Order: sequence, then structure tokens, then C-alpha cells
Amino acid sequence: MSVIRLLTEIPGPNSRALLARRARAVPRGVPAVTPIAVVHAEGAVLTDADGNQLIDFGGGIGVVNTGHRHPGVVAAVRDQLDRFAHVCFPVSTYEPYVELAERLNRLTPGTHEKRTFFVNSGAEAVENAVKVARFFTGRQAVLCFEHGFHGRTNLAMALTSKVMPYKKGFGPFAPEVYRIPFPYCYRCAEGPAGGRCCMADRTRLEQILAATVDPGSVAAVIMELELGEGGFVPAPVEYVQTLAAFAREHGILFIADEIQTGFGRTGKLFASEHYGLVPDIITTAKSLAGGLPLAAVTGRADVMEAPQVGGLGGTYGGNPLACAAALAVLDAMEAERIPAHAQRTGDRITARFRQWAEQFPCIGDVRGLGAMVGMELVTDRESRTPDKALAGRLLAAALERGLVLLSSGTYGNTIRVLAPLTTDDAVIDEGLDVMGAALEAAVGRAAALA
Ligand SMILES: Cc1ncc(COP(=O)(O)O)c(C=O)c1O
Repeated sequence: MSVIRLLTEIPGPNSRALLARRARAVPRGVPAVTPIAVVHAEGAVLTDADGNQLIDFGGGIGVVNTGHRHPGVVAAVRDQLDRFAHVCFPVSTYEPYVELAERLNRLTPGTHEKRTFFVNSGAEAVENAVKVARFFTGRQAVLCFEHGFHGRTNLAMALTSKVMPYKKGFGPFAPEVYRIPFPYCYRCAEGPAGGRCCMADRTRLEQILAATVDPGSVAAVIMELELGEGGFVPAPVEYVQTLAAFAREHGILFIADEIQTGFGRTGKLFASEHYGLVPDIITTAKSLAGGLPLAAVTGRADVMEAPQVGGLGGTYGGNPLACAAALAVLDAMEAERIPAHAQRTGDRITARFRQWAEQFPCIGDVRGLGAMVGMELVTDRESRTPDKALAGRLLAAALERGLVLLSSGTYGNTIRVLAPLTTDDAVIDEGLDVMGAALEAAVGRAAALA
């Protein structure tokens, strides 16, 4: 049975009316990626202000891996709200914060002693991870990657690669940030040489650093193991291993930014597990608390204990409602074996994408770990010129048909799926059917390969 129900065209009159009010009340800098106004959400289904039901393959940009209104999360938040909503953790201690820190210390890669503290957003977690790394090492430089995205606050923006819209006009940027190429094999001039990433070579890495910054002055390297906003590009395992060994030898801390890759998205609880990587510090946010604003910095106890009392924290960080939600998310991850289901869902999506790639020459690359799957659209396979306009037409055609879908990538030409990981196969298939129809409409039937 179909879950999409369209009563009006998309957007309907009520959505349009609220969007018009929004335009007069909210600055345009805050984007409206879709023109719909949502009044209810459940699982992977959104209901808009006109009563239309749409399938959500955006998941609040990777925030509801456990689905909208997961019953465990709703119950935990209600229960906590009946107790108290805020006391400020730096003032008075409460158990959900401590228990969540204990669980993240246990669940994140590595059996060593760890510490966790909470903040409100991904960008804030990134800022704090770097802050702690600088304090511990006594060094200032930070290495980051082309195509990386780490948020919109000043330091996070400096670490972010894409200029438009994230950086243009917003300087000056935080100093001591050094950017190196991401191992993006599809767009690498050399391609994966003999199936192996050309940048995984130790000498090559040393050469890149020799032209960038003295490793002895670098506090940390921050990396998304699979680029999120940068276009769903997983780093090759051999590259990450070479980089991690290099970092260790030079006393550089490895910060894995798992804000988008975390909590089952890649088919494992954390993407680091695909790489045998034990990061010194991990940043998480997004799906950590099933829709409530919460982010965490988890790291080696010796590193995390370095800063002085009062140097870390904030008024709202680790809000009790958000911590209660996160504990319910972790329960669900385990009880419902969400990472394993995500892998199966990812396989399903990848199979369909590959099938389309045989039909449509505009699909240049299909890639991703687990359910973090994307396809990169190009004008032709020889030049690999990014086709952002086609991506836009595809998203619009999907939305018209009742599917919320997102793009990503420095060139805006990668279609990504961030559907809740609890979504039934039938709903995934319905979403994929809509996506297939939208793809055909966007490219035009004539453009399909015979
Ligand atoms: C990898 C990564 N890091 C950091 C951020 C910033 O998180 P927030 O938007 O919560 O500040 C994002 C958000 O998309 C992200 O994907």
C-alpha cells in the first residue's frame, strides 16, 4: 500500500502561505530547500500543511536515523519533561547526562578510558574538539580537507571547504587552518591507481604536508570518513590508515567528525569501525538525540581531562530532554539492530542506483558506505562535468511526486539518501520508484541509454 498521498499540487496553498510569511519574517540566508510546511512526521512520512503525505529521504539532514517520533524517544522525552527541563549541568548534576556520557565512552571505538561532554550543535562540537586538542598538544595548527563540511560558526566555517554559500563574504576566517586534498578517487586526476588510492602513499602524504604546514605544529587533523555535505564520498581505507599512522607518529590528534556518519548511517554504529580507526576524539550530533538538539565530544581521557575547570561547557549543553532522547536512541540502535538494517537498506538502494547507472549516462558514480549512499550526476562520463542543474530538476520532480530528497557536494550534483534507518523495505522501494520516475522526467526519456 502506497504511503504517499497527494491531495494538492506540491506545494499546496497552506504551505505556500506559510512560506510567504516566512519570507517576510526570516532572512533568506537560512535556506528553504523544499517549499513545504510540515505539521506532522512519523517514521519516514511527513504530513504537510495541506494534508499531503510525503516520503522523507532527507531525514532532517541525517537527524532522524531512528525515524520521526520514535516511540521510545517520545516516551523518554515526555518522562523527563515531567521531572525537569533544565537546571544547567555545570550547576547541578543529573543522571541522564552522566549515563549518556558513560554509554558513548563505551560505544565509541577503542577500549581505552574516555570522557564525553555535551554541547548543542555539530559546529559547537567541532569547535570544542579543536579547542581541547589545542590545549592538550600545546599546538595551534589544524589540518582539514577539501570538500569537508564542519559547520557555520567561525572556526567550523574556516574548517569547511565549500566557498559558496558557506564562506563567501563571511571572513576573516580563524587562523592556523590548513587544507589538504580529500582522497576523492572519482575526481582525482590519477584515479585509484591499480585499485589503490594514489594519496594513500606515505611519501605522497609527506610531500603534501611539506608544501602545507610543519607537522610538528599541528594539533589535530579533522576528517569526515565519508564526506557528508561534500558529496557522500567515502575515503579509501588505505588512505585513512596511512594518515592515522602519520598523525600518530607526529603527535597529531585524529578527530573523526562523525556528525553525519554516526549512529548506524554507514551500516555500523560509527564509520570509524569500517576503517579499524580508533580516533583520539570523535564529534557526534545529528542522529544522536533523534531530533532534539544535542552534540557530543568524546575522546581519550588524558586528552579530554587537560583543559582547566570551567574551560568547557555551556548553559544548554547536555539538556536533560535531549540526553533522555539520546539514551532512547541508543536503546533503539541496539534493540532494533538499526546499523545492520541500515546495511541491508543501503544494499537495496545501491542496487537500484547501479541499475539506473546502466540506463542513464548522466550517473557518473554510485558510492557510499551502508545506507549513506549517493550518486553523482554529470553532463557526460568522459568529461565528468558536474550537472547541478540536472540534480535540481531531479529533486523538484521527486518533490512533485511526493518524495523529499536532498543533494550535496561541492558542485551540488550528488543526490544523497538520508532516509530514516528504521524505514520498511516497502517504503524504501516506494521512494526509489518515485526517484526513478523523477530521474526519467529530469533527464527526459530520450537521454536514457538504449
Ligand atoms: C560532518 C558534519 N560536521 C558538522 C556539521 C555541523 O553540524 P550543525 O549543523 O549541527 O552545526 C555537519 C552538518 O551538516 C556535518 O555534516
